[in-house]
Amino acid sequence: MAELRYEFVPALSGSGAHVGSYRRRLPVNLVRMYENALDWEHLPHLHKSSFSALDLLDAGAWGWRANVVDQRKGTSSVIELRLDRDARRWITRTIEGPAKGAEIWTHVFEVTPQALDIVVDFFVPDVDAAQREKVGRAYARAYEVLYDEDVRMMTERQQQLDRRIDGVQTTDTVSLGTLDEISAPLTFTLSDRLFVLDKTGDDWVVYPERCPHQLGPLALAEDIPEQVHCAWHGYRFDLQSGECLGDSNCRLGRRPQVRIEADQLSVHW
Ligand code: FES
Ligand SMILES: [Fe+2]
Repeated sequence: MAELRYEFVPALSGSGAHVGSYRRRLPVNLVRMYENALDWEHLPHLHKSSFSALDLLDAGAWGWRANVVDQRKGTSSVIELRLDRDARRWITRTIEGPAKGAEIWTHVFEVTPQALDIVVDFFVPDVDAAQREKVGRAYARAYEVLYDEDVRMMTERQQQLDRRIDGVQTTDTVSLGTLDEISAPLTFTLSDRLFVLDKTGDDWVVYPERCPHQLGPLALAEDIPEQVHCAWHGYRFDLQSGECLGDSNCRLGRRPQVRIEADQLSVHW
């Protein structure tokens, strides 16, 4: 495992003692980064090893405030994130909970249009000097995991946005092989869009490879085979109707049909 990029620099600001910083270069642009900071919805899904639940209390262009449950300890905290675009930073504060008063200041520096450096400073109240490094390293380790997960999401989303194509050729069809050759799930391209051919019981189903919400990866739901599920914010879609189950008005959109002729499986619009 690579060495943890932790350092300790005494600082003057913040509400508690500065227990250290975490630095990292990220292959993403500012738009993706701000979008990620404001995206409270992904915490208990993409970061499910850190957060087991989240209840939103308030959100806007300023940031968000939510009650979150720590996955390992089971404790609840009210956390608030305030984004300050002019200062290129956001401050995450624990308002209630075991770490009440802790502040995490994240500053972003644009290195190139597609690369950022982030510096995350951790301020924690009631930590005596002898414990600072231990506490700081624990924060840095937690942030390393969160950013590993976020970088994957941000870069995948950017790639998908870059190749998103509207409009389909309704005459398009593609042959995917004979029934005994095909091993599901199988990803294929039709009209420049990625789809997945999969099987639920004896039925073949087709769904888009990407979620209509923010282009996360879709897969058949493990618990309910008639649904697909997205790993990023937990949205679920009914395979029959294509509707999102829940409050969102996202839809799966047009999906190709499966045709089987003499053991050959093809898909068409
Ligand atoms: S990208 Fe948000 S639920 Fe799929
Ligand atoms: Fe995240």
